[in-house]
Amino acid sequence: MSRPLRLVQVGAGAMGRAWLDAIARSPDAELVGLVDLDASAAESALAERGIELPIGDDAVEVARRTGADAVVDVTVPSAHLPVNLAALRAGLPVLCEKPVTPTVRDALILAAAAEVSGKLLMVSQSRRYYAALAAFRSRLVDLGSIDLLRTEFMKGPHFGGFREEMDSPLLVDMAIHGFDVARYLLGAAPVSVSCQSFNPSWSWFRGDASASAIFEFEHEVRFQYIGSWVASGLETSWNGSWRVGGEAGTATWDGEAEVVVQRGTDEPERIVVPPGPAESIDGSLADFVAAVRSGGSPSSGDIHENVLTLAMVEAAVRSAGSGERVEIARLVDEAWREALATELADDHRAAMEGWGSAAEHLGLPRATQGPIRYSTDAAAV
Ligand SMILES: NC(=O)c1ccc[n+]([C@@H]2O[C@H](COP(=O)([O-])OP(=O)(O)OC[C@H]3O[C@@H](n4cnc5c(N)ncnc54)[C@H](O)[C@@H]3O)[C@@H](O)[C@H]2O)c1
Repeated sequence: MSRPLRLVQVGAGAMGRAWLDAIARSPDAELVGLVDLDASAAESALAERGIELPIGDDAVEVARRTGADAVVDVTVPSAHLPVNLAALRAGLPVLCEKPVTPTVRDALILAAAAEVSGKLLMVSQSRRYYAALAAFRSRLVDLGSIDLLRTEFMKGPHFGGFREEMDSPLLVDMAIHGFDVARYLLGAAPVSVSCQSFNPSWSWFRGDASASAIFEFEHEVRFQYIGSWVASGLETSWNGSWRVGGEAGTATWDGEAEVVVQRGTDEPERIVVPPGPAESIDGSLADFVAAVRSGGSPSSGDIHENVLTLAMVEAAVRSAGSGERVEIARLVDEAWREALATELADDHRAAMEGWGSAAEHLGLPRATQGPIRYSTDAAAV
């Protein structure tokens, strides 16, 4: 296919507008229609950009009308399940904003729907697509056996709106990015988490705006997350700041352009990484287009592996609520049983029953084994 991939976008809100601009920048994609339940949102988003295109309130109908090849879903998280189910049922691959669904249960239903349709459902985890992050990851081979990954995320944004009313705004809406980057860096699967969340006295969020979590990954690696959305001063980058400790050295990334590596007592090596050609959502879009064209998998975000990132969020929230350590494989299997107890299409149910266990189907370990020696070939799990 040499022509650009024809896309219908669903959702013309704040993030939808950023996606319209990313599609316009892409040489490999073309917007052919825009869908929103609120027609005025779609009309104004197009008018602001001087574009005239078919609009509607149903992605499959607009895709049929315009001959689209795929759907980009930038609706609110609670709409992702019905919008993605309908698109996959119509044979359309989908690129969906994070979080793929509000619950692991619903994400597993989407994994089954993708299997039944034979079409790609990719979740855009835009923070994986930074040249400096890739450079940081490529230097982890210098560190020998790795035992600790740590990130700190400190910001003080006043968003207004739904985030300030949510129960766990930091963990659900923001920490998902850091958790996903941890999986990318380690190329290993999460095993369990102990988490505390809290709301500083000066917080302008109703729910907990700060959290501290320690995850156990395969190979006895610990991933420590500390974050706040009510930080005052000395903010980190939106990507957070990162540190990996290994047997032979340490590497840091400031979340922007600077990577520093020190092996033992050698002089620290500072690397300034220029931006890549397609970062953030431009990177997700390029990855999606390439995967649809090749019929292969994207470098990240296939629904089957992305469920593990969502499971880290759900497990952290559960741990913060109960004060208990939460095992991720157990949480995923509980969600799978819950999904099987809901009303499902017969073919989706049959696919899910065929898994035997969702945790096994997704390749989740139940216990850790031996230390990790980082290899750049390690597949992101
Ligand atoms: N990657 C990031 O950094 C990032 C940043 C912000 C938001 N997001 C994600 O992007 C998504 C959208 O967030 P937003 O801030 O643009 O929300 P928003 O509320 O501003 O816009 C959502 C739009 O979707 C429309 N919509 C809702 N249900 C629909 C349906 N069933 N069919 C068609 N249209 C429907 C709404 O009318 C609205 O116009 C969310 O999943 C959010 O988490 C990601």
